[in-house]
Amino acid sequence: MSSEDPRIVELHRRRAIAMGGGGPERVERHRARGRRTARERLLQLFDPHSFQELGMFATARIGDETERIAGDGVVTGFGMIDGRTVFAYAQDATVFGGSLGEMHGRKICQVMDRAVEAGAPVIGLIDSGGARIQEGIYGLGGYAEIFRRNAIYSGIVPQISLLLGPCAGGAAYSPALTDILVMVEGQSYMFLTGPEVVRAVTGEEVDAEKLGGARMHISTSGLAHFVTSTENDALMLARRLLSYLPSNHLENPPLTTPGVEPAQARQVLNTIVPLDPRQPYSMHTVIHCIFDAHSFLEVQEQFARNAIVGLARLEGQPVGVVAQEPEVLAGALDIDASDKITRFVRFCDAFNIPLVTFVDTPGFLPGVDQEYHGIIRHGAKIVYAYSTATVPKLSIVTRKAYGGAYVVMSSKQLNTDVTFAWPSAEIAVMGGEGAASILYRKEIAQAADPKTARAHYAEQYRQQYLNPYVAAEGGFIDEVIEPAETRERLIAALAALRHKAVIPLARRHGNMPA
Ligand code: HXC
Repeated sequence: MSSEDPRIVELHRRRAIAMGGGGPERVERHRARGRRTARERLLQLFDPHSFQELGMFATARIGDETERIAGDGVVTGFGMIDGRTVFAYAQDATVFGGSLGEMHGRKICQVMDRAVEAGAPVIGLIDSGGARIQEGIYGLGGYAEIFRRNAIYSGIVPQISLLLGPCAGGAAYSPALTDILVMVEGQSYMFLTGPEVVRAVTGEEVDAEKLGGARMHISTSGLAHFVTSTENDALMLARRLLSYLPSNHLENPPLTTPGVEPAQARQVLNTIVPLDPRQPYSMHTVIHCIFDAHSFLEVQEQFARNAIVGLARLEGQPVGVVAQEPEVLAGALDIDASDKITRFVRFCDAFNIPLVTFVDTPGFLPGVDQEYHGIIRHGAKIVYAYSTATVPKLSIVTRKAYGGAYVVMSSKQLNTDVTFAWPSAEIAVMGGEGAASILYRKEIAQAADPKTARAHYAEQYRQQYLNPYVAAEGGFIDEVIEPAETRERLIAALAALRHKAVIPLARRHGNMPA
């Protein structure tokens, strides 16, 4: 058929309409807000010339010809990212405000189904007014179909959500169900009920940004894993994220060329832990001294900053890093830190990413507020996550591992494969002052100078118990190592565990505390 053939001409006419989204005026208005169209976003996300669209001519049951032919407000398809197949959908805010109607929902579900059958990740570019009002139950049903797929495909292929515009109402449950959620500062927001409803119901005055903007979700709700300043940065971040992840749960994460030495000299590690146990030091520096240069990609950086989680590489092998930050709350574990650690451990375990855990925590954060809000319920999740994780697990106690926090943070008894400790490690039921006050209460009370007596008994306890050797003698720590040799030790242990295989006990599924 020549291009003059009327059937080809008709195809091109329809294509031109579809590619035009909601029409020039709406596209112009969209661009004027610094936002790209759905197709422009997808072209930016995928390797050049690799994106293949599916369902361009799917139409809504409502609207004029322009809107009807515009793929029902969502562009779906597949392409390559760094040469690997990835499926994606991008909501088109210029067509019915990117709202979700029957065909729109069906297209997203189809792309998710194809992705799982092909064993490839799914990326959703979300920019939507939520359920399409005119389509009523068909929109709501579409969301339910998507949520179900988010849930049953969880842990089968990586699911990433990029919020590039609004995501209001129950629609927010889809990104909340995915593995990674990225928001753009000043551009994306997410809430169940908007500012007007909040004002009407509770009388609170709040704008959309404050109620559900990127800043709020990255620092307070903990829903967002990353915030970027531009949508282009969000798209590039999705590409970078995938470089750490396998395409599905049956594959291992991709190896990159090894031999990228850490950005900071590892000798720093031998003196980084202060002699005074009350003085903080930077666990971020520790991480930068151990993992491949520029490989650490911190997740939820601004939420529960007393805990650190992120992806990194050791001689090109992706690993998940979990740690405490002694500079924030002395590295104590609280409710938010527990949730952050749990979710990340589960994510790494689902996608065959070995876990490396650094421990320096005085314990769970004491307080009425923490107890009332269920610190036990939340802390129990860490135990559950580490105990059931079957990927290679390595841990390094750098300083404090007191009480319950010792147990939950990848202890030997939670089936951690190799447990290291630095000579500065203090593995015990509690710190010196607390132990002295309980064990020598009578002696301290009867002493001429109780303060000096307490300090004396605390020091005596420290000498006897606050070291790594008691734990090493009991087999709880496999090896006490020089901090500067941590990288080599981890690399060797990872290599030894490369083919680790654990067959889980048969059951329907466990019941994780929530
Ligand atoms: C149908 C919609 C729509 C919707 C927007 N539009 N949202 N059409 N259903 N949900 C249309 C508008 O009519 C308009 O059409 C075009 O999209 C652009 O909308 P504007 O309001 O002009 O754009 P903007 O100023 O950018 O504001 C975008 C917006 C706002 C913030 C998304 O439109 C908005 O608040 N929409 C309603 C959001 C909402 O409450 N949705 C329901 C949430 S409940 P024209 O023809 O003028 O271009 C929900 C339940 C899900 O989603 C439950 C799942 C379990």
